[in-house]
Amino acid sequence: MESPAKIVIQNFTFQYGVFAALKDLNLSIGANQIFAILGPARSGKTTLLKSMNRLTDLIFGTSHAGRVFIDGREIYEPEVSLPELRRRVGMVFDLPTALPLSIFENVAYGPRFKGLRDKSRLEEIVEQSLQAAVLWDEVKDRLHSSGLKLSGGQQQRLCIARMLAMEPEIIMLDEPCSGLDPISTASIEKSLMTLKEKYTILLVPHNIQQASRVADRVGFFLGGEMIEEGPAEDIFTRPKMKKTEDYISGRFG
Ligand SMILES: Nc1ncnc2c1ncn2[C@@H]1O[C@H](COP(=O)(O)OP(=O)(O)O)[C@@H](O)[C@H]1O
Ligand SMILES: [Mg+2]
Repeated sequence: MESPAKIVIQNFTFQYGVFAALKDLNLSIGANQIFAILGPARSGKTTLLKSMNRLTDLIFGTSHAGRVFIDGREIYEPEVSLPELRRRVGMVFDLPTALPLSIFENVAYGPRFKGLRDKSRLEEIVEQSLQAAVLWDEVKDRLHSSGLKLSGGQQQRLCIARMLAMEPEIIMLDEPCSGLDPISTASIEKSLMTLKEKYTILLVPHNIQQASRVADRVGFFLGGEMIEEGPAEDIFTRPKMKKTEDYISGRFG
């Protein structure tokens, strides 16, 4: 069964000054699935993620045309609350590092910032978020030691847990496994499979193999254009476009 569309992007063009980093994009992303954004460097993948929660508003000289709807509401309307949008649409960048706080406080940071003081409720949120990020078992006995002492892969999952504690609906991960060993990568991929039951996930995969392991649907981007989009299996086994085939068979990128 097709899941209902969580994100609908219509004729969306995004510019840095006069340079169009995304060109006339039309795309629907269903709820509770992993949508992988595939493409070589500078194809517009990060720009697409950042324009879904308007992090791009922070960059001087940008402009857009077209529309983006989340649950049917246009996110570029002036009355949209940006803190609320960014809570609902969370993002973890590549190579994130923990805050210089304990593991517990790293995760409790967002709920505390929103004013939550109840100790047992905070403990509950911290445990649930660490469980969902598949980190709980590794850290439950040292929640009060520094988050900075964790390995790279653990810090990445800690940052995912911190985002989950904000109760997002859409989670965006930009090359979450760059620089990680295969075991940490496998842990992150395992957590994604569980997370999609509750969230809609936009993933810029670390490589093509990762996309083929975890993605439900894939969009292939090149030079700011979406060349083709479809079920992961189709994209990887019978792409319609020559450019997609060249990319997935490793002829460029
Ligand atoms: N802040 C910025 N200012 C100007 N150009 C940018 C900025 N960020 C990205 N770009 C340009 O937009 C294009 C797409 O970049 P990006 O979205 O980062 O691609 P990807 O994530 O696929 O590597 C690139 O040509 C890049 O140079
Ligand atoms: Mg990028």
